Amino acid sequence: MSKAETIYLKDYKAPQFTIKTCDLVFELFEEHTQVTNLMSIERVDARAKDLLLDSIDLEVVEIYLDDEKLSEKRYVIEDEHLRVLDVGDAFKLIIINKIYPQLNSELEGLYKSGNIFCTQNEPEGFRRITPYLDRPDVMAVFKTTLVADKERYPVLLSNGNRESNFRLDDGRHGATWFDPHPKPSYLFALVAGDLGVVQDKFVTASGKYVRLYIYTDRGNESKCKHAMKSLKDAMKWDEEVYGREYDLELYNIVAVDSFNMGAMENKGLNIFNSAYVLADEDTATDANFMGIQSVIAHEYFHNWTGNRITCRDWFQLTLKEGLTVFRDQCFSADLNSKEVQRIEDVDALRERQFVEDASPTAHPIQPDSYMAINNFYTATVYEKGAEVIRMLHTLLGAQKYRKAMDLYFDAFDGQAVRTDDFLWAMSEAGGIDLEQFKRWYHQSGTPKLHVDEKFEDGKYSLTLTQKVPKAVDGSEQKPYFFPLKMALLDESGKEIEAKTLIVSKESEEFTFKVEKKPILSINRDFSAPVIVEQSHNDYAFLMKHDTNSYVRYESAQSFGLQTIESMMRGKPIDEEFVKAFGLILDEEKLDLSFKALLMELPSVSAIMQRQEVVDFEMICEAKERLQKHLALTFKEKLLGIYSENHTPDSKELDAQNIGKRAIKNRALKHLCALESDEVIAVANAQYNNSVTMTDRIAALDVLENSSPEFSAVALGHFYKKYNRDTLVMNKYFSILAASHRDGTLDRVMALQNDPAYNELVPNLVRSLIGVFARNYKHFHAKDGYGYKFVADKIIDIDKINPQMASGLAGSFKIYKKMNKVNKKLMRAELQRVLSEPSLSKNVYEIVSKILKV
Ligand code: PHE
Ligand code: ZN
Repeated sequence: MSKAETIYLKDYKAPQFTIKTCDLVFELFEEHTQVTNLMSIERVDARAKDLLLDSIDLEVVEIYLDDEKLSEKRYVIEDEHLRVLDVGDAFKLIIINKIYPQLNSELEGLYKSGNIFCTQNEPEGFRRITPYLDRPDVMAVFKTTLVADKERYPVLLSNGNRESNFRLDDGRHGATWFDPHPKPSYLFALVAGDLGVVQDKFVTASGKYVRLYIYTDRGNESKCKHAMKSLKDAMKWDEEVYGREYDLELYNIVAVDSFNMGAMENKGLNIFNSAYVLADEDTATDANFMGIQSVIAHEYFHNWTGNRITCRDWFQLTLKEGLTVFRDQCFSADLNSKEVQRIEDVDALRERQFVEDASPTAHPIQPDSYMAINNFYTATVYEKGAEVIRMLHTLLGAQKYRKAMDLYFDAFDGQAVRTDDFLWAMSEAGGIDLEQFKRWYHQSGTPKLHVDEKFEDGKYSLTLTQKVPKAVDGSEQKPYFFPLKMALLDESGKEIEAKTLIVSKESEEFTFKVEKKPILSINRDFSAPVIVEQSHNDYAFLMKHDTNSYVRYESAQSFGLQTIESMMRGKPIDEEFVKAFGLILDEEKLDLSFKALLMELPSVSAIMQRQEVVDFEMICEAKERLQKHLALTFKEKLLGIYSENHTPDSKELDAQNIGKRAIKNRALKHLCALESDEVIAVANAQYNNSVTMTDRIAALDVLENSSPEFSAVALGHFYKKYNRDTLVMNKYFSILAASHRDGTLDRVMALQNDPAYNELVPNLVRSLIGVFARNYKHFHAKDGYGYKFVADKIIDIDKINPQMASGLAGSFKIYKKMNKVNKKLMRAELQRVLSEPSLSKNVYEIVSKILKV
């Protein structure tokens, strides 16, 4: 077994050498690729004698030092390094090496996605292409020449601007690219393929002309419109909100089907998972359209927050990711509905990050150690990281925040820096002491905020107590500094007082002068990523009357949670909740997407997070019972909402139509609990008449979970229509893998042999296996077969793509909280995984941490 070693931030050492320029030539062939890498290198640390380059699985052919060919005595090929002995102060090094992209299934370095050559180098993929100082604090100017067969690979791309094209006489051709901006190797990219292209342009605020290109498999060009519009919207937004323009004449995006993550911000040449580029109404849901808008923007925003100012080392990852997620969240909020966007972002945080933060793999947004850095592209580093930036934005206010960002860009443009440098700019321009605030970067776990209220002779007092969890290693952690938006409301919902409290002590009291006992609206807009603990009976009131839409939603959720929990303790259904739910259905003036959110019951995960010992059977039973009761009580109203908003022929993507689809599909989902022929007929008709993928998927989901017969027919039709469209097939596999019907595991196992399925394509693995591993009913089945299946897949897929495998292992993160029966079953499977010979360090890190508790 690979006994993975742990890497610590405290061991960081500045590079001993630096690379000024890197000229690369790639000769792409069907079996191998030859790389010629010419670097101009300078010594930084006078004590250094040998040059130690990162190098994994590379076949070194020849090395030249200042034009002299080196004999094999002058260099050593070590495990993951190439050591060049006794080098000078400044020299040219040429390395010629061979790689095999066609055999690369890890999808790091240079690989093939279908017939397209492409790269993925963040965080440490470049060392799988050529020997290099593969660390973000070494920044070089890159020039890249690609040579390939002209017919198979007419399109040849790399970073920056194209300098020249040339033809060779053997049917091959080439192109040379030059990127004037020094950059770390993780931002290097190349693409070669036979691609279709969509073209547009953007004129920057200062009048510079930028050509925009989106490349995709031929035939998909018409599906790039939304991505292109999103790109232009993002470029404009960054100019307006942050005063930042694009800095090259060219912006290229390439969509590929095999990609480990969402997308990658390589300088001037973004490479995208095609799921975040391609969309039309027939094949993509409304949620897909939103996802594309935000990922396109995210990668674009990286050009300033990530590329021009990059990370000193990978422990600083949240410097670029937390900040860039915050930027893309604000962008989406500005372009769509602020209220809905905020609720969805908070929801996503709680579903993924809170679970992680409560698990043995919890880590600070700036971790201090790792085994596999690939395991740290987490909800914590990204989404919690964004919440931390949002708190700074709240603390400073929009104006000073912008001043601080300007200072950050002024001070660090072109450099590789640390989160401390960012905080320095915030503190300096914000005029605020952030010493205590820094704990958000170094402590893990979600703090709880206990709220005690008291009202006595015109004085209302609020006692807030922070309960900061222990770190994973058992050590104590300290109270946080954060902004807490709150308001006091009168009995009509009017704000008597609204302010932002600064919370910094373990326990502190805030007092207010008021005439009558007010109603508290707390953590408005989710101003701090904490769990509020409060016992009160005001949920129904806040659901209906709060002027803050986030708190309205939050109160509906909390009330739902309280109701389901009391049902799990054997109590009857709380009719007050049922009444409050009914009042929401009656509201006529609400934004439809927002109303659809208010109608949502707490997720199984949200219920699970509040249990000390988790039993999914009990949770699902109670939730289903509540759902059925609501559906029975409000059948007519829900049917009314459905028919009022069901306009089967419209496929427009404006807020009104998106809202109509959201609310009618929510009503349908509620009605599904009735398991009645009437509802099945409605869903079936919706499927048959649908003109959008949103409606089709919503109908299929209802049919699959309520009628095997109708589901079989509809899914059969769906398969026939879309089996050659892999992005749509992802949805097909997901519906089946998430199904609550009996026999789901058997069907999932069989689907692995479906011609549309391919274990080498991460999206498909995530849709089938990943979704199954989040199917509470079947993954956690008490016969243990769900666990066994996923453990088998972790072992298999680890041999293909360790990053995918460790992602799947994440579904075992809740191990610690499971009931005895499930825990025992889980443990056996995790141990089996851990005892696999030659397990990757990725999976080893996750599984060994889970088992440690
Ligand atoms: N840097 C990418 C992003 O967040 C994510 C990514 C990481 C993509 C590692 C691929 C590999 O925008
Ligand atoms: Zn990012």
